Amino acid sequence: MNVASLQQEIIRLKKEKDVCVLAHSYQAREICEIADFTGDSYKLSVDASKAENKNILMCGVRFMAETCKILSPEKHVWLAQPFAGCEMADQMDKAMISRVKQDYPDYTVVAYVNTTAELKTICDVCVTSSSAVKIVNNIENKNILFIPDCNLGSFVAQQCPDKNIKLLSGCCPIHASVTAEDAEAAKKQYPNAELLVHPECVPEVCAQADYIGSTSGIMDYAVKSDKKEFIIGTEISIAEHLQYMCPDKTFHILSLKLICPNMKATTLMDVYNCLSGKGGEEIVLSDETISAAGKCIDEMIRLGE
Ligand code: 13P
Ligand code: SF4
Repeated sequence: MNVASLQQEIIRLKKEKDVCVLAHSYQAREICEIADFTGDSYKLSVDASKAENKNILMCGVRFMAETCKILSPEKHVWLAQPFAGCEMADQMDKAMISRVKQDYPDYTVVAYVNTTAELKTICDVCVTSSSAVKIVNNIENKNILFIPDCNLGSFVAQQCPDKNIKLLSGCCPIHASVTAEDAEAAKKQYPNAELLVHPECVPEVCAQADYIGSTSGIMDYAVKSDKKEFIIGTEISIAEHLQYMCPDKTFHILSLKLICPNMKATTLMDVYNCLSGKGGEEIVLSDETISAAGKCIDEMIRLGE
């Protein structure tokens, strides 16, 4: 079977089985092409909650599928590739943050959505990379404990100078592997290009950027910009998608270190296997987890509007 006929079969199956397919922007082109919705983690969580289908199939990583289940507990939510986790989400668990919270009793605990459903149950509000600054500004409390990403947290702290933000040492090992020297070298190699980076990059890289934003933010910026050449400082798939969207512009990869193996784990065949009942994993969360983590995600949507 070739890619086009597999895609046709997937489109037929998702209609027959009433499945809404969500694909994070880091997914491969052939997966984005058959998805009902694509975008960053914030957009996908909102799209999933509005979809009318009985079933949701997430092509992304586990915390994204869990977020969909929390927002739509009455739906069956599937993760196309069960091995697709997130290295950052796995860095901090409920026991660890319960201990840290004891040292910060009057802090509002803000969790990046890249956390497990279980950890969200003891946090106050979630944020995504596209909504973090707005949400933190909208929180009444001045004292914020921001987990787990210290790089996104530093970016938020810079944008919200009135807040007292305590950071821990979590990070995305993929984005954090890019150094200031990598950014300098890319800018030297492409002197006419603008550097667009994700806030999961270290502050020394963000400091050299022309734009800092979520995956969707980077894509919107590049599409709307009058500029013709860009260096893309996030997962390399974004440069590929942009090149298709804007053939008259040029997109360079900031570093070959920006390949997320978890995001790359899902294949078109995984999507087909999941839809035909031969693969994937249905996300099962207890009612208690859904209810407690749900408060944290509802707060994200309320404060992000
Ligand atoms: P976005 O919120 O920009 O989709 O990012 C998710 C992610 O995992 C980035 O590494
Ligand atoms: Fe997680 Fe980093 Fe991969 Fe995003 S790029 S899914 S934060 S490991």
